[in-house]
Amino acid sequence: MGASEMARPFLKWAGGKTALLPQLLDAAPGQIDTYYEPFLGGGALFFALQAEGRFERAVLSDSNKELINAYRQVRDNVDGLIRALQVHQRKYRAAEDRAEYYYKIRAKRLTCSLGGAANLIFMNKTGYNGLYRVNSKGRFNVPHGRYENPTICDEASLLAASEALQGVKLVFGDFSSAPRRADVGDFVYFDPPYVPLSDTSNFTSYTAGAFSGPEQKRLALTAAGLVRRGVNVALSNSGHPDIVALYSAADFELTSVDAPRLINSDSAARGSISEHLIRERQEVIFRPRVTSFTQADTRTRTFSRRHPLLGRRRTATTSPALPIQPRSLWRASKR
Ligand SMILES: C[S@@+](CC[C@H](N)C(=O)[O-])C[C@H]1O[C@@H](n2cnc3c(N)ncnc32)[C@H](O)[C@@H]1O
Repeated sequence: MGASEMARPFLKWAGGKTALLPQLLDAAPGQIDTYYEPFLGGGALFFALQAEGRFERAVLSDSNKELINAYRQVRDNVDGLIRALQVHQRKYRAAEDRAEYYYKIRAKRLTCSLGGAANLIFMNKTGYNGLYRVNSKGRFNVPHGRYENPTICDEASLLAASEALQGVKLVFGDFSSAPRRADVGDFVYFDPPYVPLSDTSNFTSYTAGAFSGPEQKRLALTAAGLVRRGVNVALSNSGHPDIVALYSAADFELTSVDAPRLINSDSAARGSISEHLIRERQEVIFRPRVTSFTQADTRTRTFSRRHPLLGRRRTATTSPALPIQPRSLWRASKR
């Protein structure tokens, strides 16, 4: 897959990870077979890893099907999409009442088609703060934004994103589906809707259904299951005490990586939300502890222990053909 220097998110997205890229790139392995990003949103880490040529293959997924449609149109039909966005840009700029034009587009149902993708990107660039929010019937309900002269059709950015997406698998579905096939050598980055630190926070309203406590627990179980299979996993979330307790119980390590929140409808509430990066604790992984390649054990070993979150006792057998690098060695190999 060819590296594309300019590729970056073509959508603004609540919880976008651009501000945290240095820490996330540092946490990601230097070489990845298949990269999975199951809460895709704007895909900031995907584009950054792609620019560095860090993975062989990528599988990107999200439970927002109109969002996945937009990515597919960028990948497969970028010229048509650019033409449709140029039409929006011309009409919007010429409109006497821009809000009226926005609401006319918003009244149309977002379909999984070229036109649907163009409408979604148009509303992302001209709607309030680039938010994606739907009502109880699943209809997009973000009000018109306050931008003076928004760029609706950023041709260079769309072309670069299209090139970066060539050969990438784009899947509509729940976060647990796509990474089911992940294996040793793969890396999964989960960036779910966060547990809000305060009751007034509304960062959970990304799709029609809220991502509440049971969903957060299901995610922690999914992540723990992947770690047990030898898959590299990283997650982001807030530093809410429930999140700290959930992942600490599952033997994950949490590191505070505070960054400013860029999208928040209440400007007084902008600022730090106590971002945490969550990684598996090295000692609990079912792998031989290898301190260097030369000391790699040549025998097959069987490990058995009770997982703190899954509760069940499981046995895992390691293959001598696949010695896993300890984290300190990945770091060294990245430089
Ligand atoms: C915090 S955003 C991801 C931000 C992204 N990392 C970025 O850089 O822009 C969370 C995403 O999770 C998606 N989502 C919510 N619930 C989901 C689920 N159960 N399975 C998969 N995706 C889900 C939302 O549609 C949203 O796009």
